[in-house]
Amino acid sequence: MLRATYILSSLAVLSAVRGQGVGTYQTETHPKLSWQTCTRSGCTTNSAGTVALDANWRWTHVTGNYTNCYTGNTWNTTICKDNAECAKNCVLEGANYQSTYGITTSGNALTLKFVTKGENTNIGSRVYLMASDSRYQMFNLMNKEFTFDVDVSQLPCGLNGALYFVQMDADGGMAKSSNNKAGAKYGTGYCDSQCPRDIKYIDGEANAVGWTASPNDTNAGLGNYGTCCSEMDIWEANSISTAYTPHPCKTQNSGGQQRCTGQQCNVPDRYGGLCDPDGCDFNSFRMGEKNFYGPGKTVNSNKKITVVTQFLTNNNSTSGTLTEIRRIYVQDGKVIPNSKSNFPNLFPAQDSITDKFCDDAKKGFGDATSFQKNGGLQQMGAGLAKGHVLVLSIWDDHTANMLWLDSNYPTDGDASKPGIARGTCSTSSGAPKDVEANSPNAQVIFSNIKFGDIGTTYSA
Ligand SMILES: *[C@@H]1O[C@H](CO)[C@@H](O)[C@H](O)[C@H]1NC(C)=O
Ligand SMILES: *[C@@H]1O[C@H](CO)[C@@H](O)[C@H](O)[C@H]1NC(C)=O
Ligand SMILES: *[C@@H]1O[C@H](CO)[C@@H](O)[C@H](O)[C@H]1NC(C)=O
Ligand SMILES: *[C@@H]1O[C@H](CO)[C@@H](O)[C@H](O)[C@H]1NC(C)=O
Ligand SMILES: *[C@@H]1O[C@H](CO)[C@@H](O)[C@H](O)[C@H]1NC(C)=O
Repeated sequence: MLRATYILSSLAVLSAVRGQGVGTYQTETHPKLSWQTCTRSGCTTNSAGTVALDANWRWTHVTGNYTNCYTGNTWNTTICKDNAECAKNCVLEGANYQSTYGITTSGNALTLKFVTKGENTNIGSRVYLMASDSRYQMFNLMNKEFTFDVDVSQLPCGLNGALYFVQMDADGGMAKSSNNKAGAKYGTGYCDSQCPRDIKYIDGEANAVGWTASPNDTNAGLGNYGTCCSEMDIWEANSISTAYTPHPCKTQNSGGQQRCTGQQCNVPDRYGGLCDPDGCDFNSFRMGEKNFYGPGKTVNSNKKITVVTQFLTNNNSTSGTLTEIRRIYVQDGKVIPNSKSNFPNLFPAQDSITDKFCDDAKKGFGDATSFQKNGGLQQMGAGLAKGHVLVLSIWDDHTANMLWLDSNYPTDGDASKPGIARGTCSTSSGAPKDVEANSPNAQVIFSNIKFGDIGTTYSA
């Protein structure tokens, strides 16, 4: 017995050393970003906030030397023929936020630049708000209000400056996977409702076996595994269009982030997986109010916009059931209520996301009902109540050129048919090679993040 214990514990020590580790060439220093929590008695500033870059953007190389484990869109199959071995042999490196990734902060403002030309060219980024050096800040949005300012004036067609919440683990998955030694500090553990398969490390293992390089993205590919969890899109936007969208998942029943394979990851049947990939979206243009949001419109995207989102429950308590996700804008000292849907022949005018609104819009537009099949707002709320991580990103779209946000989609649909037109961008806009070449200086600025009781995070 004693001997067996000794052997087991020495193996445990060995595996504790050999796991998805971190590199030593670049110190990881998270840029500071302050934010506020608010109650009836006012707001207090949290000055300890920082942001961490997602692991997928980081240099991953052999432990102890400069050999890449992953280059462009392919893995080094000599080092990475086995997913677990690969994670043990490779490290995630620290990030130079400004010069490599175009990420800067100042006080309560975060700027994400689109194309950054350093030693290599970097496209877009994704960062998380941190509670400490090694843990993500967790938010329970139930019966709460979340507010921020955004400058989208330098985000043309095809780009997306996104602010959203996903049900990641606070430690980036370290406790769940003993092989993950990098954790939240290095931005591990991403998941969302698309169950993305372009993630290089999931659950402390590489996603190298079966990896297929993307035919149209020199920086990405798809592995055999995806990573699913519920997602609340507060803000997916450019200067032309904006949408907010809850995406419930079945995974929240088993604790949030879950690695998937095959059909679980929504392939080949888009609606047969663990999550709702479509969500129930409120995009004012798509909902028939074409003069509400955009350059020079009611909510003027040429200028800074304050975006308020309220998560209302059936009994005005965090323990209640999510019944409504309400949007309010503030600009130039004026409170601007959300636009109302405008299809009087199809369904009654509504300005907020409720289960009735989702039923009406899906039926009216002839959309799939995966939002309802995944449990609708109640299931979204059950996930939110367990805590979500705040994500801020800038990205272009190698799958659909962002046309689902800012143009007619599907592109061969009749634009006069309700639900097809989502914005004024041309159906030929948004190809990544075009936006990367023509708008390298695009950027989004998020600032003045506030979280608190309903009615306490904004004023006129
Ligand atoms: C890097 O380390 C690996 C594993 O120890 C070794 O196989 C490889 O030869 C090294 N490469 C260089 C360039 O030193
Ligand atoms: C792949 O890794 C092996 C082992 O470290 C190394 O010898 C080889 O040069 C690497 N290949 C590339 C293309 O980097
Ligand atoms: C919740 O608060 C709203 C707004 O103050 C109020 O109209 C509603 O009656 C309250 N609902 C319950 C169940 O207390
Ligand atoms: C709110 O409703 C939930 C169930 O819907 C219940 O468990 C909880 O006790 C209620 N909270 C309050 C303060 O009434
Ligand atoms: C890019 O490739 C992916 C497959 O990796 C495909 O789904 C997508 O339609 C392609 N997009 C374009 C714009 O060609």
